[in-house]
Amino acid sequence: MKTVPIIVLDFGSQYTQLIARRLRENGVYCEIVPFSEEIEKIKEKKPQGIILSGGPASVYAEGAYHPDSEIFELGVPILGICYGMQLITQHFGGVVIAADHHEYGKAKLMIENAQSPIFEDISEGGVVWMSHGDRVDMLPDNFEMIGYSDNSPYAAIADEKKKIYAFQFHPEVHHTQEGARLLKNFAKNICGIQSDWNMGSFAKEKILSIREKVGEKRVLCGVSGGVDSSVVATLLYEAIGDRLVPIFVDHGLLRAGEREQVEAMFKQRVGIDLITVDAADEFLDNLQGVVDPEEKRKIIGETFIRVFDREAKKHQGIEFLAQGTLYTDVIESVSVKGPSKTIKSHHNVGGLPEWMTFELIEPLREIFKDEVRKLGLELGLPKDMLGRHPFPGPGLAIRIMGEVTPNELRLLRQSDTIMQEELKAWGYYDKIWQAFTVVLNVKSVGVMGDNRTYDNTVCVRMVESVDGMTATFAHIPHDLLEAISTRIINEVDGINRVVYDITSKPPGTIEWE
Ligand code: XMP
Repeated sequence: MKTVPIIVLDFGSQYTQLIARRLRENGVYCEIVPFSEEIEKIKEKKPQGIILSGGPASVYAEGAYHPDSEIFELGVPILGICYGMQLITQHFGGVVIAADHHEYGKAKLMIENAQSPIFEDISEGGVVWMSHGDRVDMLPDNFEMIGYSDNSPYAAIADEKKKIYAFQFHPEVHHTQEGARLLKNFAKNICGIQSDWNMGSFAKEKILSIREKVGEKRVLCGVSGGVDSSVVATLLYEAIGDRLVPIFVDHGLLRAGEREQVEAMFKQRVGIDLITVDAADEFLDNLQGVVDPEEKRKIIGETFIRVFDREAKKHQGIEFLAQGTLYTDVIESVSVKGPSKTIKSHHNVGGLPEWMTFELIEPLREIFKDEVRKLGLELGLPKDMLGRHPFPGPGLAIRIMGEVTPNELRLLRQSDTIMQEELKAWGYYDKIWQAFTVVLNVKSVGVMGDNRTYDNTVCVRMVESVDGMTATFAHIPHDLLEAISTRIINEVDGINRVVYDITSKPPGTIEWE
């Protein structure tokens, strides 16, 4: 069992993931577990520090989340944040009450005990971010106030002897100016953790552990050309070489030239020969006459599994399946919040049925999306590959409103290529989270030369986003839009109108279907 220097117990705060991020950015490896994690499991990981996250509830409310109280007796340093502070206060006999007025937003942290190692290099009066309805009214025995703000007499408290610290504010959010430093101080000065974790050490560790786990067996890996699966395949190749069976299903819904680009990238830059399965006809046949978006996704998902399984059966001695599950997927399924509501049934075209009884290898389970990119760089994947915009599993099918036909696919591919070219030429590709075109299947009248036209419409969609959960339409120059529009209408036979989507998410989604 691998040891984990810091364990973060999640009590449901929207900021819990940020705690992990800030620590890792500072070279401290940590993992988030649900607040209800069994104490034995926590002990197995031999943490040198425990952080109790914030949470939306009140510690005194009925059914409030409480950790196993043994964590307070382990002798391991603890840092409580907001709700975590209130848990500590309550556990050690202090009093938590509802504040007269809720405190949201910026406050100035005044330092009462500048000698405390938690405050090393922290400025007096620095901005911290408050977001709470309850507050500590009476300190528990042996605790002292070490910091305060105008509205929070107990903004920071500690039992220095037991190494238990608590903040009323959120050090993990960006608005807390020296928040990352506070978390680092906790890890380094209080828990004694060396901050030497980085993606290079992570990669080495992963390669060794995959090698050990797989032995002489073989591993199946679905490759889509996306960042996650490419990094997984490369990591596996580094670990087990030719015992990796990398399958790339061409479902006929890829962008222009994408299959060739992905194959060439793997061959030239990583040295892997992908096993490409050309299943375009099968997918397009199954999609014939289908217009409902959910139905499209279902058919594509099912066809993918059939094709993948058929190919997998051709290879002997496979016992493992590698997948690009990310930390965000893991947290979503274990956190106290439960998975967020399904808006579209997407995101896992590669989800496999139970009868495919392979043991899973998920080397990205512990890391975040941007860390995957860093890992890719460590592994020598080219920058342009790692910076590619996200592309949905069902591919171009969900960017054609209505039935997927060869002609609509042509319109989409040609217009998409032009848009990508212009975006890159104008230096905007890397500034935008995702950009693509959509074939609307709306006809309108136009005039080209002396002729009246009655042709299809293409919509250009470009969004800015951090994680795809929310997005705003990209505010790009009108001249760039004009360049795209002019080229599409001149060069794509069958398109006589281009529109720009100015909807943000929410209320819209990024894709049109
Ligand atoms: P939406 O349209 O839900 O998209 O705002 C959010 C992000 O997810 C991508 N997306 C998908 N990815 N399978 C995927 O693998 C899907 O079915 C799917 N639908 C949307 C979308 O491109 C955006 O990045």
